Amino acid sequence: MLAVITGASSGIGAAFARRLAARGYDLLLVARREDRLRSVTSEVQELHHVTAGYLCADLTDLGDRECVAARLRQAEDLGLLVNNAGFGTMGYFFEADPAGQERMHQLHVVATMVLTQAALGNLFARGAAGTGVINVSSVAAFGSSPQNVSYCATKAWMNAFTEGLATELAGRGSPVTVQALCPGFTLSEFHDVLGMNRGTIPKSLWMTADFVVEESLRGFDRRKLIVIPGWRYRLLVRSMKWIPPSLLHKMSIAAVRRYRRRKQA
Ligand SMILES: NC(=O)c1ccc[n+]([C@@H]2O[C@H](COP(=O)([O-])OP(=O)(O)OC[C@H]3O[C@@H](n4cnc5c(N)ncnc54)[C@H](OP(=O)(O)O)[C@@H]3O)[C@@H](O)[C@H]2O)c1
Repeated sequence: MLAVITGASSGIGAAFARRLAARGYDLLLVARREDRLRSVTSEVQELHHVTAGYLCADLTDLGDRECVAARLRQAEDLGLLVNNAGFGTMGYFFEADPAGQERMHQLHVVATMVLTQAALGNLFARGAAGTGVINVSSVAAFGSSPQNVSYCATKAWMNAFTEGLATELAGRGSPVTVQALCPGFTLSEFHDVLGMNRGTIPKSLWMTADFVVEESLRGFDRRKLIVIPGWRYRLLVRSMKWIPPSLLHKMSIAAVRRYRRRKQA
């Protein structure tokens, strides 16, 4: 079976490539950096003797997106799509570069929607068990943190989208599985791209990309819809559900004010 992974040139996407190749999947890896894609492709081919190829695509670009979608529609052996490509931004929404905010929505929302529709059209028609789509969301989907507004909103969309798909598929008696994977802080290039100092986050909150992917695939085998790797994050998300939204909103405002005061001091 073929697995198509977006954002496979580093971090969680590259970890998916290694794990899925070890499970015997053939791979089509998608991202923008050709040298990195070539290196992950050669590594998995040598180690696991699978057929692997790559496609250089900027998924914020309509033409590139359509190219990947066409491959998903046509692949007779498609087994899995992992919508993983993503990035973060820092700063207040009303002061942010509008182009960056739009790119984030194009990548997290539009690309996920277009590629998922292409993949599910194919997978639903074939109706094979053990096939599906994994959407790499975030624990950020469960809240709204200041200076991270579009990121939280696009990841919340990913969760709602995946939940809706699960209902449709189950209603039609399909064995195709969908999952929203919601990691917390994971060691990857994400925070370098973002320009964030990892030292500001307690060590105990960091997970490896391998651990996150293992949890995702374990959940996929059990047809789990929402996967939150790590007990700390599961506890956090569960406790947030007990806090009334109005109180959560006030707590977030207080956090912004505390942050502003610290910065001004
Ligand atoms: N790391 C974390 O703490 C964390 C936590 C929760 C969720 N996540 C999510 O996990 C996913 C993977 O992130 P990561 O942590 O593995 O970060 P990463 O190492 O920076 O990987 C991001 C991947 O996305 C690709 N990408 C970015 N923009 C793209 C575009 N326009 N078109 C195609 N590919 C693009 C990058 O490849 P190219 O640059 O080669 O295109 C790269 O392969 C993201 O969706 C992120 O939101 C990460």
